[in-house]
Amino acid sequence: MRFKCFATTIMGLEDVAARECGEILGTEARPDVGKIFFETDEDGIIRLNLASRTLHRIFVLISKSSAEVLDDVYRAAREVDYAEFIGADQTFAVKGERHSKDKPFTSMDMAAAVGRAVIESFREKTGTRLRVNLDNPDVQLYCLIRDSELLIGLDTTGKSLHRRYYRVYHHRAALQPSIAASMLMLSGWRREEALLDPMCGGGTIPIEAALIALRMPPGARRLHDLAASRLKFLNRERIQEIAEELEAKADLEFRPRIIGSDASPKSIRGAIANAEAAGVLSAIKLVVGDALRLDEWLDERPSHVLMNPPYGVRMGVRRIEEFYQKICASIRDAAPDARLTAIVSKPTIFGRALESAGYIVESRRQIMYGRLNAFIIMATPE
Ligand SMILES: C[S@@+](CC[C@H](N)C(=O)[O-])C[C@H]1O[C@@H](n2cnc3c(N)ncnc32)[C@H](O)[C@@H]1O
Repeated sequence: MRFKCFATTIMGLEDVAARECGEILGTEARPDVGKIFFETDEDGIIRLNLASRTLHRIFVLISKSSAEVLDDVYRAAREVDYAEFIGADQTFAVKGERHSKDKPFTSMDMAAAVGRAVIESFREKTGTRLRVNLDNPDVQLYCLIRDSELLIGLDTTGKSLHRRYYRVYHHRAALQPSIAASMLMLSGWRREEALLDPMCGGGTIPIEAALIALRMPPGARRLHDLAASRLKFLNRERIQEIAEELEAKADLEFRPRIIGSDASPKSIRGAIANAEAAGVLSAIKLVVGDALRLDEWLDERPSHVLMNPPYGVRMGVRRIEEFYQKICASIRDAAPDARLTAIVSKPTIFGRALESAGYIVESRRQIMYGRLNAFIIMATPE
């Protein structure tokens, strides 16, 4: 059966997510704000959950309408036949997300209205009163409103896909793996090329690079967290089969040239633990090293440098500018031909540092990263 679907992702990276989704499913996906829309079948839903590196949650779209007041939300939810998606013996819950401040209701109000509508619609169709379980429901519904667009979706993912199975060490400024994977996709890096992250912290960028290089599907190792396995219209055995099929396509013998380094021995110990948990330790070289003195220890010339330098929240403007200038100059010296992709929160200062080290800034895109406004900057040597 074909389903209309949507999936959430980082705001500012929707086009990257749509491209990845299109590649996995072989169909087109349409980028929207913080999400993408597409159509697929049962296998496609499972495949995306197991293989995607950029998506957070994948939903079956069960209603799309326009809503101004709470009654519109209730009415839209009341029209749906939930018997197709929820079994009479299953529990459900609704989460609300309101991305418009001008609405005369809260996200809790929305969730309650949809919950009421689900119970009434289901009882009318089947004669059974569905049970609610807010903590551990079999079926989780979401209602999202942005401007006046109301979406009601059925969650097939559960715990967001950006929570990877390998995070055994939590770096205090860890990058979201879905952002790291998106940066790798944007950078144009190919798995045969040498890659360096000179400030790798807990290793997110090198680990995501290794997962790409070894063609390992990140979701396939966290099957137990997948909401899809509780959904009655998806076959649990099929989830297992597709996971095995994807794992069988992994190229574990491939030896990429990926280096991650950090000045902090504690971070590198953490990165090693994460890489080991990811199953990619032998595919990455992780070393303690000063990014400001790369020429003293770097023994390979990478063609791509990706990094997430300190945001400098507690550093003064002068100090952060000096620091960025030194990093850019150090990279230019040690890896003169490398293309650079960085995520920073002070793009103007970082852009100036790049230019003074002899780089041309090619592109700059803004993303919403929690409460931080971050920018992905790509630059090439002059
Ligand atoms: C924002 S964190 C990187 C987090 C990482 N992307 C992750 O996901 O865990 C910045 C890192 O830069 C490192 N760092 C700061 N100055 C450095 C220097 N001079 N050389 C190497 N690493 C440095 C810090 O130790 C920190 O781990």
